[in-house]
Amino acid sequence: MKVTEKIDDMKRLRQPLTEPVGLVPTMGYLHEGHLALVRRAREENISVVVSIFVNPTQFGPREDFNRYPRDPQRDLTLLEKERTDIVFMPSPAEMYPAQFNSWVEIGKVTERLEGASRPGHLRGVATICAKLFNIIQPTKAYFGQKDAQQLVVIKKMVADLNMNLEIVTVPTVREPDGLAMSSRNTYLNPEQRRAAIVLYQALSLAQKLWSQGERDAAKLRQQMTDLICKQPLANIDYISIANAETLDELDRVNTPALVSLAVRISNTRLIDNVVL
Ligand code: PAF
Repeated sequence: MKVTEKIDDMKRLRQPLTEPVGLVPTMGYLHEGHLALVRRAREENISVVVSIFVNPTQFGPREDFNRYPRDPQRDLTLLEKERTDIVFMPSPAEMYPAQFNSWVEIGKVTERLEGASRPGHLRGVATICAKLFNIIQPTKAYFGQKDAQQLVVIKKMVADLNMNLEIVTVPTVREPDGLAMSSRNTYLNPEQRRAAIVLYQALSLAQKLWSQGERDAAKLRQQMTDLICKQPLANIDYISIANAETLDELDRVNTPALVSLAVRISNTRLIDNVVL
């Protein structure tokens, strides 16, 4: 496994790789969710590149960029075991030199949900992914369904800007009690960790009601809200039932629908979703 921090090196190491090349973009502090992406990339490609970069431009000024968990040595050990070919782990100055001033803005699909709650977040995600795709030139790039809006945005960018790669969606990996795996779960103390399962409980309730025939989105949202409000540590940021492609909010759940939510458990903001 080769490891580089430099863009020029990364481009040089990319040249002799046998196609297809799978890319797994990450912010490090790897868990089983990331490893599922790497394993899928390993299955579907001859060469696998993983990037580790805590991207400052996707964090708001009052968000957790500084305290976001990092453990590059552990990450490298895990990636070696998964037979990764190259790990690209640039510094912020390498990716955003002082004169950097170009941004990728994706339109309407960034306006709601994470886009509304975290201004600039999706612009930062789209910009860093465009940079990684240009540097690494992957055949396919792998993203987890947990960040559903991020996936919609990246797919839209790839289609609209005619980027020459395929985006692969990998199902969310969950803890045994249903909590979606996330590096931010490490912020939770034991009491908060127990409370955090309310996100999955609310999504499961929506799934159950939908499978029993409920198609009224307002009723589904209300039932989810009522359930979450019973958990004293939880504060709802949003609950959405939207068209899974356009992210337009639905009145009736007759098309594939993305049920997504963002909930604060004490100070930790968690997101999760299911598709109906
Ligand atoms: O999902 C993430 O970890 C990040 O948003 C990504 C895609 C690596 C971009 O920084």
